[in-house]
Amino acid sequence: MAKRLGVGFIGSGFITKFHIRSFVAVRDADILGVWSPHIEHARDAAALACEVGVGDARGYESLEALVAAPGIEALWICGPNFARVENIEKLDAAMRKHPGKIKALACEKPLGRNVPEARLLVKFVEHHKLLHGYLEDQLFEPAVVRGREIVWRRGAALTGRPYIARAAEEHSGPHMPWFWQGEMQGGGVLNDMMCHSVEVARYLLTEPGKPRSSITPVKVSASIASVKWSRPEYVEVLKQMMGKDVDYARRPAEDFARATIFYKDELGNPLISEVTTSWSYVGAGLRLSTELLGPEYSMSINTLDTGLKLFFSRNVRGSSGEDLVEKQNAEQGLMPVVPNEAAEYGYEGENRYFTRCFLRDEQPEVSFYDGLAVTELLMAAYKSAEEERTIDLVPGAFDDFVPSVARGEWNPRAAYR
Ligand SMILES: NC(=O)c1ccc[n+]([C@@H]2O[C@H](COP(=O)([O-])OP(=O)(O)OC[C@H]3O[C@@H](n4cnc5c(N)ncnc54)[C@H](O)[C@@H]3O)[C@@H](O)[C@H]2O)c1
Repeated sequence: MAKRLGVGFIGSGFITKFHIRSFVAVRDADILGVWSPHIEHARDAAALACEVGVGDARGYESLEALVAAPGIEALWICGPNFARVENIEKLDAAMRKHPGKIKALACEKPLGRNVPEARLLVKFVEHHKLLHGYLEDQLFEPAVVRGREIVWRRGAALTGRPYIARAAEEHSGPHMPWFWQGEMQGGGVLNDMMCHSVEVARYLLTEPGKPRSSITPVKVSASIASVKWSRPEYVEVLKQMMGKDVDYARRPAEDFARATIFYKDELGNPLISEVTTSWSYVGAGLRLSTELLGPEYSMSINTLDTGLKLFFSRNVRGSSGEDLVEKQNAEQGLMPVVPNEAAEYGYEGENRYFTRCFLRDEQPEVSFYDGLAVTELLMAAYKSAEEERTIDLVPGAFDDFVPSVARGEWNPRAAYR
């Protein structure tokens, strides 16, 4: 019999359910358990795993019970950002009681809300000698994987390496109140979504087979703004949608962010990554756009340029939903449909990859060290935006830095006086 990986989930919300659905494309893993502070939610997610046929999963009452559960040897951390450190502390206690039981951890983005938190997770896996994977799904988008492979094998090999990568992620705003609260989430859209764009752009600029260190980030220039959600009428809309604790008149977070990250290659040539994210894009739904430019070639991806489109006339009036595309904004007119979102956004490839590495006792290439490096770049971007200047990437420069948005002290109008 081929060996199989027993997987447990910490957290049972939106992303856990996305992962669970994606495991239908992973042939050598079983989801066996879920822990979440609300046992009904854990049981719901476990029931989904059973329903889609990806494991005989159970909801567990405690994190320790999940760690001790028969067959579970790898955990996927998918709790909210504000619970990362608490989850790791509980995991530490549970793993000391059950030494050697868990051999691998995969963690959703962001690894931490700031550099000290991300570093704590790195120290944890080092201390327990665990295999570790940083869950950046977009590196596994089939279009990104295939485009990168062809660009580097043909265009770059014949005419020189690519020099500009662009990545943007935009939608109309996140689904749960804590994402909107700077202190709980760690920031606004920059922290929430630029982590993806930064990593995808870096990945495209890195020669396949070479390590992350083969291109060096040198400096970062960034801006943030609140273009929509701190307008008085939208402050009210947001309160109605997310509850009174999400008050953008008093504690706004940025709903737009852009950054330019300047890298150099091993010969000192400049490489540029331009990234943009927003929670103020009202279109068909989540839009991921990616470009890679080189001396004699270019590639581009837009996840809303789908092969499948539907048209519903004004007489088709139903309830709102997300059955066509994530963060869908309409149910009428001409609309793109992403036929298999779990595959298209990279979750299937991602979970196949980490399962295979963990089963073979191999350390994945996309690791907690990458999660920490991304956090450092995001903190540099916040610092650049706050100080309205380009920031040099000096090691250790962000070890004590917490963005003003995450401290609840950001004034979006200050830069416009
Ligand atoms: N890769 C992506 O594109 C992507 C997309 C969405 C979310 N995420 C990340 O996944 C994580 C979860 O986001 P989500 O959208 O599922 O959020 P969510 O709010 O939908 O779900 C969070 C889950 O965690 C549970 N929870 C609450 N307190 C907890 C605690 N102390 N410990 C453990 N679990 C707790 C909640 O009950 C809920 O089940 C976040 O870190 C987020 O940034 C990644």
